[in-house]
Amino acid sequence: MKYFLDSAKIEEIRYAYESWGIDGVTTNPRHIQASGKPFLTVIRELGDWAASLKLDGLKQFPISVEINPHLEKAAEMVPEGRKIAALSPHFVIKIPCTEQGIIAARQLEKEGIRTNVTLVFSPSQALPIAKIGALFVSPFVGWKENSGDEGLDYVRDIVTMYRNYHFKTEIIVAALRNGRQIAEAAIAGADIVTCGLQVYQDAMHHPFTDHGLGVFRKAWDETKVAP
Ligand code: E4P
Repeated sequence: MKYFLDSAKIEEIRYAYESWGIDGVTTNPRHIQASGKPFLTVIRELGDWAASLKLDGLKQFPISVEINPHLEKAAEMVPEGRKIAALSPHFVIKIPCTEQGIIAARQLEKEGIRTNVTLVFSPSQALPIAKIGALFVSPFVGWKENSGDEGLDYVRDIVTMYRNYHFKTEIIVAALRNGRQIAEAAIAGADIVTCGLQVYQDAMHHPFTDHGLGVFRKAWDETKVAP
């Protein structure tokens, strides 16, 4: 299962890529806002940094960039998607899961521009996304759980549906808040998880590991290293 970083902060992205490794990036308007920079500045910065990796574009390191969320018609979304895609071979166009969004994603995919259909909250939304050949589908587990629903059940359903019909669309389990959800996404057979840096860092930590280290350090200190 691939790890994507959900962020538009270049320092975080660089750190995660260079330290323990990430396989891609997802951004959204909130992450761009949190970066404190204008939209175009941020995505150009991301595109330039990705170019410096000397990889094969989005095949090796996809960066999802969301279109202006005010656009409602496919006829408006498509040209916006084309403009963003032209800025970097790493960019995947993130489009909301509305009927018009699915129409726009289908058109972009026909033109060879890869898409990530986002804000997906049910298995029935996920099905047409696979049928039109989107590269990614993004179910938002954390948001679903915030609303009081079980979060990963519909991810399991999407995995089953896609396997039943050999759909190629990859499932990005998004908005994860803890390590247990990351593990459950992997157990469910998701292709990718995306979450913030802190969630990955917390997921690598366990208090028993700290306790065990204390035990081993004490034993080490009470033992001679050489005769
Ligand atoms: C995924 O692609 C989204 O950017 C993301 O997971 C949104 O959720 P969050 O910002 O609430 O974590």
